[in-house]
Amino acid sequence: MKQYIWFDGEFVEFEKAKVHVLTHSLQYGSGIFEGIRAYQTDKGPAIFRLDDHLKRFFNSAKIYSIKMPFSEGEIRKAIIETMIKNKLEEAYIRPFAFYNDANIGLDVTGKKVSVIVATVPLKTYFKNKDKGISCKISSWHRINSLILPPMAKASGNYINSIIASLEAKGSGADEAILTSVEGYVAEGAAENIFMVKDGLLITPSREADILLGITRDSIIKIAQNLGIETIERNIHKEELYTCDELFFAGTAAEITPIKSVDGRVIGEGKPGPITKTISDKYFDIVHGRDILFKDWLTYVKN
Ligand SMILES: Cc1ncc(COP(=O)(O)O)c(C=O)c1O
Repeated sequence: MKQYIWFDGEFVEFEKAKVHVLTHSLQYGSGIFEGIRAYQTDKGPAIFRLDDHLKRFFNSAKIYSIKMPFSEGEIRKAIIETMIKNKLEEAYIRPFAFYNDANIGLDVTGKKVSVIVATVPLKTYFKNKDKGISCKISSWHRINSLILPPMAKASGNYINSIIASLEAKGSGADEAILTSVEGYVAEGAAENIFMVKDGLLITPSREADILLGITRDSIIKIAQNLGIETIERNIHKEELYTCDELFFAGTAAEITPIKSVDGRVIGEGKPGPITKTISDKYFDIVHGRDILFKDWLTYVKN
């Protein structure tokens, strides 16, 4: 099936959606983006928390003073139309806004901003997701808002994630956990983190320089609904070593159990009961099997 990318209001064949090698955002990482998933349901594909992702997309643009050439409503429509055009049952959706200008120089004044929407098939993000993955606490700290705004989902921010991930993989682990410059646990390279200790669910708060994940927010609300108390607070790295359960949460990673950190086995080294309960509920919701959270789904076709 031929695939298309929505590019500044037009559908362009996937292979033909190209820019110049000197493009500002390619050279300097000055773009902003989102990662959204659409899941299969009984009523066709449904996009998970589309409006929350759109809000964050436009907030990222605002933080970086990127003048968006399209409204939130127009991008929303573009996302739905791209899903329909590409006829995908499940997809990872990537809206991206960038300076589409090949003149060398940092100054963005007057530079053209382009927006694309791509949809790609994406099953599991981590190979050993179901059994749990191994993590390494990175020697690289998470960016903080004295340096770059961690709450914006900006391309350049991800150099921080990439270097930490490379270090983790180089030492044989599956993923990095970054700490804030204060030394508290922040998040994975592209995932928020939750730990379970004595029946409580604990996750770093925004003060730990995290990206405020939409999956993170969903899990907090799901846990509340399940009667699991959630606390947002600073976490010391040694608390991770001694917790009962640990998992990542993110659009791409979904809910990924963590079986070890820096060689220390977490709990019994396999997904724990609270992780499993939350994960089962999450998958019921995204697949439209839980009516309580039905407002989180935008059906592509009615
Ligand atoms: C750095 C970072 N933290 C957390 C997340 C999780 O955010 P969300 O659940 O909105 O995908 C992501 C993924 O987008 C990320 O890149």
